[in-house]
Amino acid sequence: DKLGDNAGTRSGSSTGSKMKSELDIPEPFQVPLPRPQVLKPSNSDGSTDFYELTQRSAKVEIIPGHKTEIWGYNGTFPGPTIESRAGRRTVVRHRNELPVPVVVHLHGGKTPPEHDGYPIDYILPKGGWEAGGSMPGHDMAAGKTSQGTKDYIYPLDQPAATLWYHDHRMDFTGPQVYRGLAGFHLVRDDEEDALPLPKGEREVPLFICDRSFSEDGSFRYPSSDHNLHDPGVTGQFENGVIGDVILVNGAPWPTMDVTNTRYRFRVLNGSNARRYGLSLDPKPSDGSSFIQIGSDSGLLGAPIGHDKIDIAPAERYDLVIDFSKFKVGTKVTLRNDMDKGKLGAIMQFHVARSASDDSTVPNRLADFEQLDRSMAVQTRQFLFSQGVSGGKQVWTVNGKPFDPNRIDAQPKLGSVEIWKLVTDVHHPVHLHLAHFQVLRRQGLAPSARDAGWKDTVDILPGQIVEVAAKFTGYQGKYVFHCHNLEHEDMVMMSNLEVV
Ligand code: C2O
Ligand code: CU
Repeated sequence: DKLGDNAGTRSGSSTGSKMKSELDIPEPFQVPLPRPQVLKPSNSDGSTDFYELTQRSAKVEIIPGHKTEIWGYNGTFPGPTIESRAGRRTVVRHRNELPVPVVVHLHGGKTPPEHDGYPIDYILPKGGWEAGGSMPGHDMAAGKTSQGTKDYIYPLDQPAATLWYHDHRMDFTGPQVYRGLAGFHLVRDDEEDALPLPKGEREVPLFICDRSFSEDGSFRYPSSDHNLHDPGVTGQFENGVIGDVILVNGAPWPTMDVTNTRYRFRVLNGSNARRYGLSLDPKPSDGSSFIQIGSDSGLLGAPIGHDKIDIAPAERYDLVIDFSKFKVGTKVTLRNDMDKGKLGAIMQFHVARSASDDSTVPNRLADFEQLDRSMAVQTRQFLFSQGVSGGKQVWTVNGKPFDPNRIDAQPKLGSVEIWKLVTDVHHPVHLHLAHFQVLRRQGLAPSARDAGWKDTVDILPGQIVEVAAKFTGYQGKYVFHCHNLEHEDMVMMSNLEVV
């Protein structure tokens, strides 16, 4: 199967179809890598930094020579990067100028429940909104609805980490993120600042995602706002929506000039459904293409060298690449080993010149508390699998579709629990609020890519993965779900309530 690991729905024109795009999709490695703009606070006081974002549509150039309409935070895709200090409060005022309800979730954040982006806590469009359809949970009155604007308050009482923010609207997260509603939110702290890691120009966020385009340059998502749950449309989403153009920071297969020094890349898989197998070509002779320094939720205790890393939707890897291992003039491709042809490449680095480098990767990165199963006070099991609800094929957790009113786990605040996550097909499982460590995969030791504190774990078909999750932060109701966004929209989500 030429679709490899990502076999599923292609949202783009399929080979030979008369819809074959007339769009001039550029050959890989022509377009320079953009960097998302870093958002400046609109105001700061002794304890808090205030930011403002407007969610609006905009026309941007993604494919050279064409305009694509996006829905973006401040009209950009990816959205502006927010940089917070651990322990300082960040308040983000979101203004909704889109024609649909929106919800904002800070992924990886330890956030009080009313600011976490619960899927029915809508910010309605400024001009109002008439609820359509009769899906359970669509009851606008059930959530904490605001009109036009909402201030999200993030205490960020957590260590330095690569977080991201994105839309989380009930049943419509897939289409809304696909249109562009996602960006980085970095948390920094003094402990990390004191490390001699690559900084400034040599610290680069990489937002990797895939999209398909129509002939007119618009994004091609196989559903409009209102028909996601129509019979006939639902079936197309079985494995999630994957595109045929790979974007990094919103540019197709970009290229980046680097010096022969170390760079720190904060890699995010922001795709709706596609997984990537990251590797370098050529590989450095010592076999360590990537030095991993951090995972989803912060720095590792000590760095880990990897030859390749698989990354599922919503996972983050904080990686150092040492370009001094290559001769000046070398073009180093960041590959996607899960696919072939154009989809087998993500971007390219051109080692353009030599420069001095005073960065290093120290052997000790952060204080790291290793969880162990004896700390757990409770064990729970959740099966992520296909099911049927109301005559429709849906995705379920323990056989049940998402219901905002049903609580499926009540962990105690501050406790550690073992969660056994079981799947039928690939599902990247994400817990809100709780960070966790992978204890076992299929009864065996976790793989190298599972290291560190995580909030999303890639579960392979038919696997059982045991994680130790720590429920610190706040009491209240949070969701956990599959982060294949079409699975999430097709109700593969459940509630936990920290008590
Ligand atoms: Cu990144 Cu509940 O989501
Ligand atoms: Cu899934």
